[in-house]
Amino acid sequence: MALTSSQKSQQTLINASPTKEFFIHMLTRDILISRAIIDLVDNSVDGARRLRPTGNYDGLWVRIELDAKHFRIADNCGGIPVDVARDYAFRFGRPKEAQGTPGSMGQFGVGMKRTFFRLGRHFVVRSTTEDSRFTVDVDVDEWLADGESPENWHFKFSALETGLHIKKKDTGTIIEVNRLLPNVMDTFTLENFKSRLVAELSHAHALILDREFSITLNGIPIKHDPQQLFTSREIKPGYVEKSYPSEVLVGKPGPPVRVKLYAGVSERSLHDGGWYIFCNGRLILRADQTDSTVWNERHQMPAYRPDFAYFRGYAYFDCDDGALLPWTTTKTGVDVDSPIYKAVQREMIEMTRPVLAFLTNLVKEKSAAVAVRPLERSITTASATQVQTITKPHPFVAPLPTPAPAGPKMQKIQYSKPVAEVEKARQLLKVKSFTTVGEKTFEYFMRYEAGEDE
Ligand SMILES: Nc1ncnc2c1ncn2[C@@H]1O[C@H](COP(=O)(O)OP(=O)(O)O)[C@@H](O)[C@H]1O
Ligand SMILES: [Mg+2]
Repeated sequence: MALTSSQKSQQTLINASPTKEFFIHMLTRDILISRAIIDLVDNSVDGARRLRPTGNYDGLWVRIELDAKHFRIADNCGGIPVDVARDYAFRFGRPKEAQGTPGSMGQFGVGMKRTFFRLGRHFVVRSTTEDSRFTVDVDVDEWLADGESPENWHFKFSALETGLHIKKKDTGTIIEVNRLLPNVMDTFTLENFKSRLVAELSHAHALILDREFSITLNGIPIKHDPQQLFTSREIKPGYVEKSYPSEVLVGKPGPPVRVKLYAGVSERSLHDGGWYIFCNGRLILRADQTDSTVWNERHQMPAYRPDFAYFRGYAYFDCDDGALLPWTTTKTGVDVDSPIYKAVQREMIEMTRPVLAFLTNLVKEKSAAVAVRPLERSITTASATQVQTITKPHPFVAPLPTPAPAGPKMQKIQYSKPVAEVEKARQLLKVKSFTTVGEKTFEYFMRYEAGEDE
């Protein structure tokens, strides 16, 4: 009997849909626990941006609580609208038609779900907007056991109310993850983990913490290091502002990528020196000292070394379409092959050069036998300025080294003698300083032994 065309196409179909177990395994295998938690904070921060497009986040907060048994994160950042929850927020991956928030940190539509599965086997999301409230409560083991047909991949609202009138200040989202996985329980009891999470949060969200946004971990506020560069009468950080049209970057119309670059000097720190890269306000690379930014031969640049521990570079990439930014899906590094990054990297290298030249001269000045040290002075008299307050583009400015004094090449001599003897010599010579004692005794020797005139 001949097959109909639909029977034929049924027969030729091969099932390639993933199983839930495999999917969860693949989704969570590469993400660190701390990074997965920061993904949830990113979502709150994106919520804050939707709520306050002007960028003043005073009064907005994220509170994270964790112990060996539970994980909870709560925010007052606007909540998840019901239609967003139904059609997008709980889907694995962002559907093409879903409109992202312009300039958001979220982009791929995986963060929140990945975190649930990374942490535990039961999660509850309660979210309140100005006109709705819902709860999604998922027992992951039941969900896994439910079967693999497409409708069994769905989650369900366990409570849903719409048409409400709720004050803006009472909106927000609470997420709880229970039945933590064994390795998560172990990790959550480590003090070391908590302090690492604090450090990572304070770095990742330095920009928003600067604008009065509050993040706490088990009730303790996360502090941050502001992004600062030294300025003084003699030193000015380099600042460049650029906009790259999407046509040039990806060959089709779209929002431009705006870039701000700052390079200069700051507090000397071997560990903190280097380049810092932010995408839509989120730090993705910290104190980079490798060829991912500007260092090493590959860029015809020196390797990072202690002489450069004063160096700081800050790069801010912003775009309404996060897909054009050079970040990786885990937001832990830069996509060095992206066209935008390649273009900007060249600028970063050019901005780094004069700062390194200054720092190299500073080292020479330190080891030279000179009385005036204008380079060192320019650093010790400088004050730290928030980079965000620098708005006028200009090149890096720093004092030039004092030219070597004219005349023969000089050599310093150093030796120690008993104080009483040196003091006696000083009185006999009728001079004030021990330096002069040294010089005069040398001249005396030369006059008598080498027959030189004074
Ligand atoms: N705390 C929150 N406040 C408001 N909206 C949220 C929050 N958490 C998640 N969402 C919504 O859920 C969506 C999905 O989050 P996620 O899975 O992290 O993907 P992405 O952030 O890449 O869009 C977000 O885009 C946002 O619309
Ligand atoms: Mg996200």
